[in-house]
Amino acid sequence: MGTLGCCLLLALALLVPWDAESRKCDLQGLWRNELGSNMTILATNTAGTFSGSYHTAVAATTKQILVSPLQGVQQHPGAKRHPTFGFTVQWQFSDSTTAFVGQCFVDHHGKETLETTWLLREEVLSHKDTWKATRVGTSIFIRIK
Ligand code: BTN
Repeated sequence: MGTLGCCLLLALALLVPWDAESRKCDLQGLWRNELGSNMTILATNTAGTFSGSYHTAVAATTKQILVSPLQGVQQHPGAKRHPTFGFTVQWQFSDSTTAFVGQCFVDHHGKETLETTWLLREEVLSHKDTWKATRVGTSIFIRIK
């Protein structure tokens, strides 16, 4: 291998880790959580808003699960390595609403995860039942695509 080849290889070796270290976490893509739910997030616009779809693997109802739309917003779009975000899912088979808040992390190998906390509000027939209407949980999503 010539001097030029060596220099190119060296440059590549030096650049690749730098790239992984500096990469910003990107919300766009296909994600899966520990329950087996799949979520697609489409491109975030310059204002930080995004849409997508959610295919939950589990439900609190006995109705047939349907893929449901989500709407969200990313804080400081394009500026942060580990941006925070929130989104809501409008379930197409249930009267409930779920709100997720979270943060997108990327490790030194470029592996991305979404660390989230969610609130699921179910419809109750009387405000007297409000005390039992909200579930809370945490969820970690990994990138599938
Ligand atoms: C419902 O059961 O009324 C609608 C579906 C709720 C699915 C919840 S949202 C939080 C948790 N994470 C998931 O991926 N699915 C469940």
